[in-house]
Amino acid sequence: MASKTILDRPALDGQNAGIADADIQAAAARLAGEDLCSIADLSSGEVRAILKLGREVKSHPARYRRALDAKQMVLMFEKASLRTRLSFETGINTMGGNAIFVDQTNQPLGERESIADVARNVERWVDIIVLRTYAHDTITEMAANSRVPVVNALSDFEHPCQALADFMTLEERFGKVAGLNFTYVGDGNNVCHSLMLTGAQLGANVTVATPRGYSPDFEIVTRAREIAEANGCEIRLLQDPHAAAEGADAIYTDVCVSMGMEHESTKRAPIFRPFQVNETLMAKALPTAVFMHCLPARRNAEVTDAVIDSPQSIVFDQAENRMHAQKALLLLLLNGLANVKAVSC
Ligand code: CP
Ligand code: NVA
Repeated sequence: MASKTILDRPALDGQNAGIADADIQAAAARLAGEDLCSIADLSSGEVRAILKLGREVKSHPARYRRALDAKQMVLMFEKASLRTRLSFETGINTMGGNAIFVDQTNQPLGERESIADVARNVERWVDIIVLRTYAHDTITEMAANSRVPVVNALSDFEHPCQALADFMTLEERFGKVAGLNFTYVGDGNNVCHSLMLTGAQLGANVTVATPRGYSPDFEIVTRAREIAEANGCEIRLLQDPHAAAEGADAIYTDVCVSMGMEHESTKRAPIFRPFQVNETLMAKALPTAVFMHCLPARRNAEVTDAVIDSPQSIVFDQAENRMHAQKALLLLLLNGLANVKAVSC
């Protein structure tokens, strides 16, 4: 992650003196002006800091009402969105900033003019660029050419903001994430990649069950295993969803046909059928286990109504926490804590 220079960096003992928490203080110092293309751009301490700050802004939203006064955020989306768009827009609006949405669904970035030229224009007007793309390289190229922070709001390779909100939700539910047995069942896709990296950063044991041929990317698995080893947890890859669910604290699934893969729907449906999260699969997990999904869900495809509508389901808490976790992220990337008197963690 290259260092950017457009923002003033906070001094550890200076303008953020109101921050007691060491993880948040260190994250505020390093992340101001940085990009978030991948969860792997963050250290474990920085992931912990975002989650803690997310819970703090959720509990005390009024403290942050003017933290991003007049900051301008552009969202350029090549794919549809409900949660990501609205949680970013409401998030910055409630901190005094402003969001501008640019619909790129009919014209992928880089088509009308080069991605580098888009970056060199946009950085003159806005403070942060939030991208939802097909190619992950579109995000890294924008980041490499922009002097303002670039945030990945979903690419074909990762969905880091989703994973931050998801683990914040688990932390709320269980008190801590370290040592939790987290199971992902389904496609080894963008969401799965970011969950593996985030779980490893936080010390969760992550088990992933995918059909043969739909495993997560090798480089992500390798990186997640390196991180997991440093944090005393493990990453397991299986092909049996029932074995993966055994004793789990959380069962997570996603659609088996991601945006851009619609042409594979007919081929994928029978391959993913045994990976459906239904009551039989949930019964393999602990009685206290939760069901999670990034949404949108294809009801009665990857998850049954009985599971997603059950008391075990925390899918709408996850959706709510998208906003709080992203507010924390924006505060750190835009040095917003410098405008807040005291942070109570
Ligand atoms: N989970 C998620 O990213 O939802 P949207 O596609 O609606 O933004
Ligand atoms: N894997 C899904 C996630 C949607 C939030 C997709 O990329 O379409």
